[in-house]
Amino acid sequence: MGPDLVQDALEKMLALEKSQVALYATLAAKAPDEELVYGLQRLAKIENDHVLAIQQKLREYYPNQESLFGQVKDSLTAVGLKGFSALVNTAQGVAGLGLLMKAAAAAEERAMADYRRAIARIKDQAIRDIFWEHLIDEELHYLWLKEKAAQLMNTAHPQ
Ligand SMILES: [Fe+2]
Ligand SMILES: [Fe+2]
Repeated sequence: MGPDLVQDALEKMLALEKSQVALYATLAAKAPDEELVYGLQRLAKIENDHVLAIQQKLREYYPNQESLFGQVKDSLTAVGLKGFSALVNTAQGVAGLGLLMKAAAAAEERAMADYRRAIARIKDQAIRDIFWEHLIDEELHYLWLKEKAAQLMNTAHPQ
């Protein structure tokens, strides 16, 4: 894998992570109780840590291209969130938030797959370290979201 493929992977994951920050901040604002507010804000914080880690590597490896990264990541972030915006706007109440969290869990699964694919191709150990850490974080997010979404759906429609 040449340097361009490393750069492509970093930029792709940066765009994805930025859309995750925005998504969880949006969901936290809709959360009905303190535990979910803190939980979703915590996810947003962790995704922001992922953004910062990837940005740091981009700056370190490609120091003269920073203005370019801004354009790429901003346009991709808009695309990344597009699928969610209609859902976010129409979701109502506790059941709606449960559906959004299920959709977020599915987005985490896609992020996990993207990280796995990148790790399979990248030899650079520093990038592998970061991507493995992020992949494990995304797995924890996925499990947390699935659990909390199920609880919310139960609250909205008790058996
Ligand atoms: Fe992440
Ligand atoms: Fe995540």
